[in-house]
Amino acid sequence: MVSYKELGLVNTRDMFAKAIRGGYAIPAFNFNNMEQLQAIIKAAAETKSPVILQVSKGARNYANATLLRYMAQGAVEYAKELGWEKPQIVLHLDHGDSFELCKDCVDLGFSSVMIDGSALHYEENIALSKKVADYAHQYDVTVEAELGVLAGVEDEVQAEESHYTRPEEVIDFSKRTGCDSLAISIGTSHGAYKFKPEQCTRDPKTGRLVPPPLAFDVLDAIMEQLPGFPIVLHGSSSVPQEYVDMINQYGGKLPDAVGIPEDQLRKAAKSAVCKINIDSDSRLAFTAAVRKVFVEKPGEFDPRKYCGPARDLMTELYKHKIINVLGSDNKA
Ligand code: G3H
Ligand code: 13P
Ligand code: ZN
Repeated sequence: MVSYKELGLVNTRDMFAKAIRGGYAIPAFNFNNMEQLQAIIKAAAETKSPVILQVSKGARNYANATLLRYMAQGAVEYAKELGWEKPQIVLHLDHGDSFELCKDCVDLGFSSVMIDGSALHYEENIALSKKVADYAHQYDVTVEAELGVLAGVEDEVQAEESHYTRPEEVIDFSKRTGCDSLAISIGTSHGAYKFKPEQCTRDPKTGRLVPPPLAFDVLDAIMEQLPGFPIVLHGSSSVPQEYVDMINQYGGKLPDAVGIPEDQLRKAAKSAVCKINIDSDSRLAFTAAVRKVFVEKPGEFDPRKYCGPARDLMTELYKHKIINVLGSDNKA
């Protein structure tokens, strides 16, 4: 059993309370490899932004759970080396799908876990989320639970259509589970294809897809039921069209990839939405930079020569999100 406190990590409690009071949101960036982690920490340190490092079940399988935990511990030290005296870094399990997985992460030194019972029946979701919260709280680890279903792929949970969170359920759910934050469904979804072209309109000038707005009325109704309660938005990548264009220009194929417009996320960040999850945008930046090097320098075979530019582009992306979208700069 390792306590996250020994690793220099923090849980989300104070971070979320401050974010709600201050009208900004904490970035929750997924990582699977060293370059992503370096870029996240550099961006957070240079902007003095609190940050949540997210590890999915897939990331644990890809990179090894123990190694990821030590990488997060190393990230705290790296942040200090970059001049960030008291780094505000959370290590969070993203989309935990069982009590055992959540417990394993708590025992390994995570400071926050998500239990995603959103595909279960309401009462089963409550029972599982409560079991995780009861265990995690013994170690002062904070717990995110989810109510409502996002469209797209939630790790191995497939949801064809989204089912918005029902505001009439949120008080009962949060009280009975004891969760510290609530992930909701208001129209975001995972991946780089958040909307089908038929759900969008087209900008006549650019020909680009314009997605439908998020259901802010549902968010408002949830906030009315749970004033000041921390709300989480998953599936919040914007799918920057410059990266999609770069990928397509350098031999990729991402037709009609579309995300959540940044003005909608800016609006959400000012509300009780205090954690915004971004993964796909980082994947797009990484892929765009690597593809460019492969096409422009076909003789290159040193991974540092293409992972380095990928890391630089991701750092730029993370800083942009922190400063221009979430407003979490200079809050740590
Ligand atoms: O919400 C899902 C995250 O983007 C993690 O995705 O399961 O492919 O690591 P992953
Ligand atoms: P995106 O696919 O929009 O980046 O969402 C990531 C996410 O919600 C991770 O839990
Ligand atoms: Zn998610």
